[in-house]
Amino acid sequence: MNIKKICCIGAGYVGGPTMAVIAQKCPHITVTVVDINESRIDAWNSQNLADLPVFEPGLDDIVKEARGRNLFFSIDVDKAIAEADMIFISVNTPTKTYGKGKGMAADLKYIELCARQIAKVSQSDKIVVEKSTLPVRTASAIRSILDNTGNGVHYQILSNPEFLAEGTAVQDLLFPDRVLIGGDNATDEGKKAISDLVDIYANWVPRDKILTTNVWSSELSKLTANAFLAQRVSSINAMSEICENTGADINEVAKAIGMDSRIGPKFLKASVGFGGSCFQKDILNLVYIAKSYGLNQVADYWEQVILMNNHQKQRFSDNIVSTLYNTVSGKKITFLGWAFKKDTNDTRESAAIMVADNLLNEQAEISVYDPKVNAEKIYADMDYLNTRSSDENRRLITVHDNPSQACEDSHGIAILTEWDEFIDYDWGNIYESMNKPAFVFDGRGILNKKTLEDIGFVYYKIGSGE
Ligand code: NAD
Ligand code: UDX
Repeated sequence: MNIKKICCIGAGYVGGPTMAVIAQKCPHITVTVVDINESRIDAWNSQNLADLPVFEPGLDDIVKEARGRNLFFSIDVDKAIAEADMIFISVNTPTKTYGKGKGMAADLKYIELCARQIAKVSQSDKIVVEKSTLPVRTASAIRSILDNTGNGVHYQILSNPEFLAEGTAVQDLLFPDRVLIGGDNATDEGKKAISDLVDIYANWVPRDKILTTNVWSSELSKLTANAFLAQRVSSINAMSEICENTGADINEVAKAIGMDSRIGPKFLKASVGFGGSCFQKDILNLVYIAKSYGLNQVADYWEQVILMNNHQKQRFSDNIVSTLYNTVSGKKITFLGWAFKKDTNDTRESAAIMVADNLLNEQAEISVYDPKVNAEKIYADMDYLNTRSSDENRRLITVHDNPSQACEDSHGIAILTEWDEFIDYDWGNIYESMNKPAFVFDGRGILNKKTLEDIGFVYYKIGSGE
C-alpha cells in the first residue's frame, strides 16, 4: 500500500460521507477533506454532531470515530493538495446556466479550477481521481491542464464515480453493489494507480465487487446508471397516470411486474416526480453529449425521461387545484415534506419546489413541515426560481417546526416526501383541525386509503384509480 495521504476537494454530499467511510475503514491513511466554503467546513468540524452539514443516517457515528484521528476537514486547499498522494475531485458539476449548452451541459468550471490548483501547487507525483459525475472524456481535459504545467510532476487520472444514494449513503458506501475504477490500463503507471485505488477499497469491499475499466467506460457508466434509474421512475410514473384513468392501482402493477426477475422489484415506486441533484442534471448532460455527436434520436429518447418527470409534478399540482373546486386562491395548502426523498436534508430539484411554485401562481398560501429541512433552505429554493420576490415568498409560505400547526385550518395536505413519521401521525386529530371537506393528496402513496377515508378525508393517492 503506497497511499498514505488523501485529499478530497469538495466537502459536499459526496465528498463528506465518502471520505468519512474511507477514513473509518483505512485508519492507516490520513484523509483531509477541503472546501472553499468555510461555513461548510466549520459545520463538518462542529462538536455537536447534529450540526454536520449533511444529514445521513449513521454518518455522525462514523465522523465521531474518525474525525481528529485520520479524518480532517479544512479550508487550506493548497496544503492538503501539496501533501497528498491521491486527490479526489468531488466538487459540484451543475447544469450550465449560461452560454453554450445552457440548461443542458454540465458546468465544468469547478472541475477545471481544481485541476489548475492541483497543477499550481503540486511538487510531487499525484493520482487524481474523478469522483464527481462528469461528461465522458473529461479526463482528457484534466490531463491536458495537468500536463501543461512543465514542473515535472507526473499525474495519473482515474475515474471513480460515486453511486451512493442520499438517505442511504452510509449503507451504500459500506456495502456497495460495486465500486467502479476507470484508468489507463495500457501503461505500468496507469495499472499501478488503478491498483493503488483498488487496494484502498479492498479494505472493506470484496475484490470481486471492484470493477476496473478504461476511463471513458467508467465516466459513461455513471451517466448511464443514472439515466436507467431515472427512466424507471418516469416509466412507473407514466403508468401511474394510466392507472388513475382506468381503475388500476400502480402498487399492484409494480408488484406484478417486479416479480419478473428480468424487471426486478426495486425503483418502481410511483411518486410526485423524481428530484435530487443528479438525475435531471445527468440526463440533460447525456442529452447534450448525444446532440454534440449528432445523435438526435438518442438525445430525444433520453430527454423524454425529463419531460415525463416535469409532467408528473405539473399534473400533481393541477390535480390539487381542480379538486379544490378549481381555485386555491387564498386557501391554505399544507406540504408535508420538502426534501427530495426521505432521510436527507437535501432539497435540490425536489418536486416540492415546482409544486409550490405552481400553487403560488394560483395564489395559494402554503405551509410546510419537513423534519430535516429548515425555513432558510425552503425560502432559498423558492427565491432561486425568481418567479416572485423574496418578500412575497416569505409572505405566502409559512414554515413550521410542528406538523399539527402546519395542518391547522388547512384545506388540503400534500405529501411531497415519504418521511416515515407521516404514516404514524394522529390523522384523526389532524382532520378535526382542518377545513372541511378535508383533502389529502398523497404524492408518495404512503398512507392507508381506507383509514383516511374512514376518518372523513377525501383521499387521493398517486397512481390509484379506485
Ligand atoms: P455539493 O454541492 O454538495 O458539494 C460540492 C462542494 O464542492 C461544495 O461544498 C463546494 O463549495 C465545493 N467546491 C466547489 N469548487 C471548489 C473548489 N475549487 N475548491 C474547493 N471546494 C470546491 O455536491 P455533491 O452533491 O457532493 O456532488 C458532487 C459531485 O458528485 C457532483 O458531480 C455530483 O454529480 C456527484 N454525485 C453526487 C451524488 C449525490 O447524491 N449528491 C451522488 C453521486 C455523484
Ligand atoms: C441517485 C442514484 O440512485 C445514485 O446511484 C446516484 O449516485 C445519485 O443519484 P439520489 O438522487 O440520491 O441517488 O436518490 P434516489 O434514491 O435515486 O432517488 C432519486 C429520486 O427518485 C427521489 O426523488 C426519489 O424519491 C425518486 N424515486 C426513486 C421515486 O420516485 N421512485 C422510486 O422508485 C425511486
